Amino acid sequence: MNRSVLIGVLVFGLVVYGSSCNKEDDGNDVEFRVPSNFPSPTYNFTSNPVTKAGFELGRKLFYDPLLSRDNTISCGSCHIQTSAFTHHGHGLSHGIDDLLGKRNSPPVMNMAWSETFFWDGGVHNLDLVTPNPIENPVEMDLNFSVALDKVRNNLDYKKMFKAAFGSEEVTSAKFLQAMSQFMNMLVSANSRYDKYVRGEGETLTSDEVEGLNLFKQKCSSCHSTDLFTDNEFHNNGLSLAFADSGRYNITLNPSDMGKFKTPSLRNIEKTKPYMHNGSIGSLESVLNHYASGVKQSATLDPLLQQNGQLGIPMTEDEKAKIILFLKTLTDTDFLTDRRFAEF
Ligand code: HEC
Ligand code: HEC
Repeated sequence: MNRSVLIGVLVFGLVVYGSSCNKEDDGNDVEFRVPSNFPSPTYNFTSNPVTKAGFELGRKLFYDPLLSRDNTISCGSCHIQTSAFTHHGHGLSHGIDDLLGKRNSPPVMNMAWSETFFWDGGVHNLDLVTPNPIENPVEMDLNFSVALDKVRNNLDYKKMFKAAFGSEEVTSAKFLQAMSQFMNMLVSANSRYDKYVRGEGETLTSDEVEGLNLFKQKCSSCHSTDLFTDNEFHNNGLSLAFADSGRYNITLNPSDMGKFKTPSLRNIEKTKPYMHNGSIGSLESVLNHYASGVKQSATLDPLLQQNGQLGIPMTEDEKAKIILFLKTLTDTDFLTDRRFAEF
């Protein structure tokens, strides 16, 4: 075993060990832990480990409207904690000057396990996400280097950069790393379902367990693992003509037309409306979509057209039980964790 692998194993071991300790949340505890029912994270923590000072700097930046052209919009405007860091109730995101974006704001949670970012997977590294919303003309509309200058001219930030990275100098690398430290800490893994699968004394009702089993049969090939996403791109039959080409925008491969990243279903009860364009307003309608609303097109996923039949066959009773199961994925600890709130 070479040295870096050995260190990796040791660090991973420590992190996993940490996850089994029960957290006494005093609002002060800042340590990235891998929940025992999760796979290993994809983020490279060796080059950017989470520290308390780095996390706090990231949190201040995340909630700071200074990063927008007219000082009105922060990341937290569209990523709100009580709705798992989505923009609850907004079909399409709403940014500066009340301008409408073209996609639904996805939850920012469990980002350390994500292989790609955005609905079309256009970004591959969490550290590279942040300049996009800052520069986006309908989100924060500020040149990234101007944003950095605004941060440089702020005394509080000088102190916080020093505490986090050892010097007052504000560089884009440090800025982006601090933002990732905050986002990496947004781990949601304490729902009733989690406590049930980890054997932590939680029980599910028989309807919820039936829902879980139905979900495994009908949904988990795409919404897979305890992250509830395969990190892949699929066309789940929302439309015939694509107003948004999705993954095709990135790859220009015709077979990717209308495909979007499989979203996690954690906290799904709190994140409506649903889909990349916010076009479905309730879980009942989502289930109706899969049962009887799937539209045929050249790139429709094969799983949604089996035995010559469109969609996923489900009775009303089965749909209702799947919804009961989905609601066990609500993680109240995450939605109310004071460490993640604006200070
Ligand atoms: C005006 C609303 C808005 C603002 C402000 C905003 N976002 Fe977003 N965010 C979105 C939307 C919409 C998407 C999806 C974009 C896409 O897929 O093209 C998104 C996607 C993301 C993602 C990817 C999530 C995933 O699962 O792929 C992350 C991470 C993120 N934003 C972080 C931030 C950070 C950090 C900031 C502040 C610098 C920020 N956002 C500001 C609306 C916003
Ligand atoms: C073929 C893969 C696939 C299967 C099977 C599948 N999904 Fe999805 N699901 C997706 C993709 C991809 C999206 C995002 C589509 C979009 O926005 O264009 C999605 C979106 C969703 C959403 C909206 C999430 C959000 O944050 O907006 C819910 C809820 C959902 N699926 C539930 C289910 C349920 C329940 C089942 C089983 C009955 C299921 N899915 C089966 C791939 C799949």
